[in-house]
Amino acid sequence: MKPLIVANWKCNPQNLKEAKELFGLVKKGVRNIKNVEIVICPPFVYLPIFWVSDRQKAGFYGRALGSQDCFWEAKGAFTGEVSPKMLKDLGCQYVIVGHSERRRYFAETNEIINKKIKAALRAKLKPIFCIGETKEQKKKGETPTVLKSQIVKGLEKVSKKEMKNIIIAYEPIWAIGTGKPCDVNEAQSMGLLIKKIISKIWSRSLAENLKILYGGSVNSKNASAYLKEAKMAGLLVGGASLDSAEFIEIVKSVSRA
Ligand code: PGA
Repeated sequence: MKPLIVANWKCNPQNLKEAKELFGLVKKGVRNIKNVEIVICPPFVYLPIFWVSDRQKAGFYGRALGSQDCFWEAKGAFTGEVSPKMLKDLGCQYVIVGHSERRRYFAETNEIINKKIKAALRAKLKPIFCIGETKEQKKKGETPTVLKSQIVKGLEKVSKKEMKNIIIAYEPIWAIGTGKPCDVNEAQSMGLLIKKIISKIWSRSLAENLKILYGGSVNSKNASAYLKEAKMAGLLVGGASLDSAEFIEIVKSVSRA
């Protein structure tokens, strides 16, 4: 399985010119790296532009587009929302769902996230389902309970067959954007814990094949350790994905891992 590196640009860059520049530099920098799957998740508005330019430059290898969020309905009177089908039509293959910033600033609950995951699956998008505990929850020793509840509620009524298209991103909230990444051994035990939960609800073989990404202050220095030592299937990269040179370095280090 190729490692999966997902770039989450969040609400950046501030204009189309910079977005095109960043996209162009990343594309060029990773052109010859064929053993890593790269997913760029820009803000909604840049998606159609990137997709068109990607199609024009056919032959670019191993890169895909993803969205940072989606709505749970296919269409209708829902001002401001974007449906999974629209994203699929624009060339997206992946969608990030349940990011902690969505949970925190937009009051997304596990129930809302569950609806989004099911809608994404219906549109044949692969959900990158984010879970993770806060600093306080970690301090109180609540991490296993929190992760279990996020998984059980977020993936409620997702069938075994559908589960094959789910990617889980373990993103401890205290590590996101703080420059304080999770210890590699700790990330590994969280990965095992997630697999144990999945194994109990669905099956052991599904858990074994499940792709788990790590996210939270990933940079070019720590990236490869999460794959080699923590046995993660890939990474979800926020801040460092906005610096083309740093992001390319992350991809390179993973490709050598
Ligand atoms: P970070 O963000 O890499 O800036 O910590 C990760 C994320 O929020 O997905």
